[in-house]
Parts: sequence; structure tokens; C-alpha cells
Amino acid sequence: MKMIKIITASLFAAGMVSFASAAAADVNFKRCIVCHGAKAEKVPPGGTIVSATLPKEELKKTLKAYKTNKEHGGKSKAVMQLQVKPFSEEDLDALADYIFTNFHIDKK
Ligand code: HEC
Repeated sequence: MKMIKIITASLFAAGMVSFASAAAADVNFKRCIVCHGAKAEKVPPGGTIVSATLPKEELKKTLKAYKTNKEHGGKSKAVMQLQVKPFSEEDLDALADYIFTNFHIDKK
């Protein structure tokens, strides 16, 4: 009986973890809205690209590159280097997933 309780508790805990990271991307994205728009549909001030048009892998790559490669980006890269600072690579992957899944605009 005790064993069942432990297993149930750990399954529940595992479920909560994935729920927490999806919810975190939602909350984290609120910080981006002021420049990128509520649906990542705007060209940020000083930027050139609508983030919602980028493929998922490109979003992941560019967000992590702002964190790891000082040379990455355009003339306003310093703005984004500051933005990605508080986030782990996992957070940035989750943010890219969140943007792509909810807001992607097909350019065509
Ligand atoms: C203070 C305004 C500001 C905030 C807040 C901000 N960004 Fe940006 N973002 C920019 C600018 C400016 C650029 C262009 C930087 C460059 O020249 O490389 C940019 C570039 C990007 C790019 C590269 C593609 C593109 O759209 O140019 C992505 C992806 C991106 N931002 C995502 C995010 C995410 C996710 C957040 C929230 C965690 C965020 N940004 C917060 C201003 C902002």
C-alpha cells in the first residue's frame, strides 16, 4: 500500500514538472510583449524581423545564440543579449516552442 502511494506521488510530481515548464514559457513571454507584440507579430524597435515568421528551429537557435555568441544578431543585439540573460537554454527552447506553437505566421 505504501509503495503504491510513493509511485503515485512520484508520477504526479513528474507530471507537474512538464506542466510547470509550459506555464513558465507563458509567463516568461510576457516580458517580450512590450517590444515584440502580444503575438510576436511586431518588428521590435531597432529590429528588422517579425519573430512569429521564424521557423521553430531558427527561433531556438537565435535565442540561444544571443546568450552564447556575442557576435550574433544585428545592430540591436545588445538589447536581446540582456533579454535572454535570466533564462537557461531550456527556458529559451520552451519560449521558442511557445512562440512557434501559438503565434507562427506562415510568410509564403
Ligand atoms: C526591449 C525590447 C525587447 C524585448 C523586451 C525583447 N526583445 Fe527580442 N528583440 C528586440 C530587438 C531590438 C531585436 C533585434 C536585435 C538585433 O539587432 O539582433 C530582437 C530580436 C529578437 C529575435 C530575433 C528575431 C527577430 O525578431 O529579430 C527573437 C527570436 C527575439 N527577439 C525574441 C524575444 C523574446 C523571446 C523575448 C522575451 C524573453 C524578447 N525578444 C524580448 C527587442 C526586444
